[in-house]
Amino acid sequence: MSITGIKGMNDILPGEVETWQHLEQLARDIFSTYGYAEVRVPVVEKTELFCRSIGEATDIVEKEMYTFSDKSNNSLTLRPEGTAPVMRSFIQHKMHTLDPVSRLYYMGPMFRYERPQKGRYRQFHQIGAEVIGIDSPLIDAQVLVMLSHFFDAAGIKDVSLQINSLGCPECRPGYRQMLIDFLSPKRETLCADCQRRIDTNPLRVLDCKVPTCKEATAKAPSILDGLCEGCNDHFTAVQKHLKQVGTDYSINPRMVRGLDYYTKTTFEMVTENLGAQSAVAAGGRYDGLIQSLGGPAQPGIGFAIGLERLVLLRGDNRITLPRPDLFIAALGDEARDLAFPLMTSLLTKGFKIDMDFSGKSLKSQLRRADKLQARKVLIVGEGELADGNAPLRDMDNATQKTVSLTRLATELEKLLTEG
Ligand code: HAM
Repeated sequence: MSITGIKGMNDILPGEVETWQHLEQLARDIFSTYGYAEVRVPVVEKTELFCRSIGEATDIVEKEMYTFSDKSNNSLTLRPEGTAPVMRSFIQHKMHTLDPVSRLYYMGPMFRYERPQKGRYRQFHQIGAEVIGIDSPLIDAQVLVMLSHFFDAAGIKDVSLQINSLGCPECRPGYRQMLIDFLSPKRETLCADCQRRIDTNPLRVLDCKVPTCKEATAKAPSILDGLCEGCNDHFTAVQKHLKQVGTDYSINPRMVRGLDYYTKTTFEMVTENLGAQSAVAAGGRYDGLIQSLGGPAQPGIGFAIGLERLVLLRGDNRITLPRPDLFIAALGDEARDLAFPLMTSLLTKGFKIDMDFSGKSLKSQLRRADKLQARKVLIVGEGELADGNAPLRDMDNATQKTVSLTRLATELEKLLTEG
């Protein structure tokens, strides 16, 4: 029996990968315009990093991590997200001593042991960006502007930006208690998970998809009513700056995030086109995270875009490989001996050239050229070798030119450059 891949972990095949490359390049271009530099961190980290940052009582840490012991009995985990590893790297390399502001981006696979379904996988890919060192609500707004800029440039229309504030260590405990007081009398009407969450992570109850839980929390107090003055002012200023530059958003006071490190501004780019998986990108501010990991007291904010979801949203709007400039149909050993160095020299000049490598008939070579959508086809057989001239067919307008074999490389280069 042949070996198959792991459930929830996908191959990205030629034909699809061009769209991925396009989106990755777009992110590189846009993020670097805003001053972000790429950072590449390992796929595996010490388990403790994720327990301390994402939070012990989150779904990710409780049940979704790929955790294993290595041969020295260290507990390691395949990264379920990128923020914690990037902060670990920031602290380890003392990046704040090099520059008071770090703008970093990253892309790559993340791993969560979730139940696979459309838009939800066990290996998935994120493109993320993080800014460390700026408190001002201006940067919250700019991060959101950059995210919207990226979605616009990627041609994704059916998404909307939702924002919320989760407060800070000063005001969140008060709200948390308010919510516990509200939920406790309703305990029996909640699902088993939420009954547990009242004690461990009550804000997550607001996010539960079970209809009875939704109903029970419909009139729950809003976190926005419990913000302290500082958090409230910050949130108002973020909105002011978004309005200044015309970035659309709506406020969703029920948006709680699945990771514990957030403070103040949180946000999601949501869609109705991916069934249960509505968030295509998400993020927020995490002012206490770096310090809680043993680093300097530096504020941070960032987001991650789910690449699989982005690609699904683009639907059939695929990027295709560029067409070959020329296909050389060579008939016989001697013709192939002429074609091979010619192809090599044109390839090194940047033209996209292909030829037949296995001695197929002219008919089948022309069929191949057609399938590849080659712009031009050069036919070289015994007759052409004897005559010293070969026909060059333009496949788009069905015209033909004769080119001299002795000046083939220069003539072809000229013709291909002309288009
Ligand atoms: P997150 O909300 O857990 O946040 O994930 C961000 C995005 O990754 C989601 O909106 C979704 O598009 C994608 N995603 C998550 N899980 C899956 C999955 N199982 N299959 C496919 N796509 C998935 C974070 O990871 C934070 N680190 C974001 C952040 C950066 N916050 C601040 N900076």
